[in-house]
Amino acid sequence: MPLSCRFVTALTLTLAVAAGGSALAAGTPGDAARGEVLSYTCLGCHGIEDYRNPYPDYDVPRLGGQHVDYIVSALQEYRSGARAHATMQVQAATLSDQDMQDIAAYFSSQTAVKPDLTSAPPPPPKVTQLCVSCHGKDGVGVTGAYPNLAGQHENYLEQALEEYKNGERKNAIMSTFVVNLTAQDIAEVAQYYAGMKPGLTTLNRRLFR
Ligand code: HEC
Ligand code: HEC
Repeated sequence: MPLSCRFVTALTLTLAVAAGGSALAAGTPGDAARGEVLSYTCLGCHGIEDYRNPYPDYDVPRLGGQHVDYIVSALQEYRSGARAHATMQVQAATLSDQDMQDIAAYFSSQTAVKPDLTSAPPPPPKVTQLCVSCHGKDGVGVTGAYPNLAGQHENYLEQALEEYKNGERKNAIMSTFVVNLTAQDIAEVAQYYAGMKPGLTTLNRRLFR
């Protein structure tokens, strides 16, 4: 790649990171202890292994060990209505930016997400070609804006990818990558990331211990 082109790429990435960073850094760093108290109701779904979303039927996403920035941006999108899901929109409606930072600090601190890949199967070609630059070789997002996928529920990953593909879930970045995925690819990719253990975990109900 010619030098000028490489420079433009680097500049674009820097600007994208800077723009993302400033939007997310709205609150002061999260207070996980306060987040634990605030997230009492959240654990009624996210703290129960295999709790499911009805219609369509899929597992509630795992959030233990998810990136802070990604959790905050997801909650902001539910609050603004940019991300559709009636229940989560209600859950996020009354949360301030600081509440979101605190909750995210608590969820994120629950587990170390890095999976052990020593006995993992080889990644599907689509993952190597299209996904690792953001979601990492180990399913751990390379920046806070890229969600961790390692250990996430397989049927939730499929649901998310299908929603990006059919336009129900809007994201400028992801929509450009899912166009290259067939239904078969989506199934393989979801199975691969879900199989990375330990990865993300169901939230722990520390409050009740
Ligand atoms: C009634 C069950 C329920 C409750 C209570 C609930 N959630 Fe959720 N949550 C869900 C479901 C289902 C989804 C997946 C929605 C979708 O597909 O967009 C979700 C998605 C999320 C996501 C996005 C995850 C991702 O990987 O993109 C975050 C963050 C989140 N919830 C945080 C919270 C917080 C914080 C609370 C409490 C204030 C909460 N949830 C309460 C069911 C629930
Ligand atoms: C250029 C960076 C980039 C690449 C490459 C990329 N993603 Fe993403 N991915 C993102 C971002 C940013 C989000 C969060 C989007 C949002 O807020 O909805 C995301 C979200 C996701 C989600 C939803 C996670 C959740 O918790 O809801 C899945 C699943 C996913 N990506 C899978 C993939 C797969 C599979 C590939 C390869 C085919 C891929 N991504 C390639 C940046 C990327």
